[in-house]
Amino acid sequence: MNKVYISGIGQTPVQEKWDKSLKELAGDAGLLALNDAGIGYPDALFVGNMMSATANQQLQLGALLADWLGFHHKPALHVESACSSGSSAFRAALMAIASGEITSALVIGVEKMTDSPSAEITSSLATAADADLEWDMGVSFVALNALIMRRYMFEYGWKHEDFADFSLNAHANAVHNPYARFQKAISRDAFLQAGMICDPINLMDASPVGDGAAAVVLTSRPTRSDRKHVYVAASSSMTDTISIQNRKSASHLLAAEESAKKAFAQAGVQPKDIGVFEYHDAFSIMAALSLEAAGFCEPGQAPHLAKEGKIRFDSDIPVATMGGLKARGHPVGATGIYQILEVTQQLWGLAGPTQVKRTKFGMTQNIGGSGSNITTHILKSE
Ligand code: COA
Repeated sequence: MNKVYISGIGQTPVQEKWDKSLKELAGDAGLLALNDAGIGYPDALFVGNMMSATANQQLQLGALLADWLGFHHKPALHVESACSSGSSAFRAALMAIASGEITSALVIGVEKMTDSPSAEITSSLATAADADLEWDMGVSFVALNALIMRRYMFEYGWKHEDFADFSLNAHANAVHNPYARFQKAISRDAFLQAGMICDPINLMDASPVGDGAAAVVLTSRPTRSDRKHVYVAASSSMTDTISIQNRKSASHLLAAEESAKKAFAQAGVQPKDIGVFEYHDAFSIMAALSLEAAGFCEPGQAPHLAKEGKIRFDSDIPVATMGGLKARGHPVGATGIYQILEVTQQLWGLAGPTQVKRTKFGMTQNIGGSGSNITTHILKSE
């Protein structure tokens, strides 16, 4: 595979952003990334988004944003894979460049969720589940994750309070991220006393809905000499059954494991070599399962890592260093690009107060559905 570099980044803060439309939000992030890369128009545009059809009455995001950004007569593609839409769009662009078909691309992840009332957005999110087996039964996405969490607690004997440190860590890191939805630390008591959404998931176990866009420019050659070069050392995508009931185990993310194993093999590294891991902590249970599936600990042991402080930005396995999905926010189709952008900042050494120590390899894992479509990337600095 030809080397593909991350040459520019751009993001909007994750907020309730009612004064911008979907295309304006995406366009803002895209222009910031193009300026950061210091190049003109790339060869192609890729857009990751999950819910624009239901939440914004808009599809055709490729053509829409090509038009809005002035990419006239260039190819543009909208990629959807639920909450992993952003990383899937990134992977599509990566493969186009690695194959030699094009030499540069702009990838934008965007989601605008807060224009819709909660009930509507909850319904839209549930389209990532199996319509026949899950959605039709009235199961929301929070409920699906609650079922997984309940099963995990039953199998390994964990209590709800044992998940607190995933959330505390994410919020502590988000204090330093001006783009984060919640730039405030939370106490253990706040975690324990938060209102229940769907037992055992309470408000502090869940990522918030939000509006946001993030963008990266990919190129076959580095475009700037004033900072380290970061390129994609591995890219791997894997699927599992879409419904939980058809899985061999509800408490293990098989597709995450397979995707991570393949990525480690491609990059020629092991979990111990990863200096920063932006995982998919849409719910605290997903944080635990992602750490386990990716091989950072044995099944059932992730809460130990969190309780012992090993997931802090200055410890063994830094995660959610800019707040993660829990506190930076989870505008679903944009999340995969926020993760890649944040790891790139870390590998450049430009991550501010939560800068990690080891900046050779960083990893992202973006989870679509309740574990049905998972994309893992490993980035390397040179
Ligand atoms: N963590 C911490 N605080 C949160 C929060 C979260 N996840 N979500 C909302 N809040 C806060 C708000 O800031 C607000 O605080 P304020 O009263 O001080 O202003 C308050 O809680 C109520 O906010 P609101 O927007 O009315 O929340 P809501 O009840 O409509 O929705 C959730 C809260 C958690 C149910 C909603 O964000 C949700 O559904 N999250 C999960 C989304 C999801 O499933 N994503 C896909 C995952 S794969």
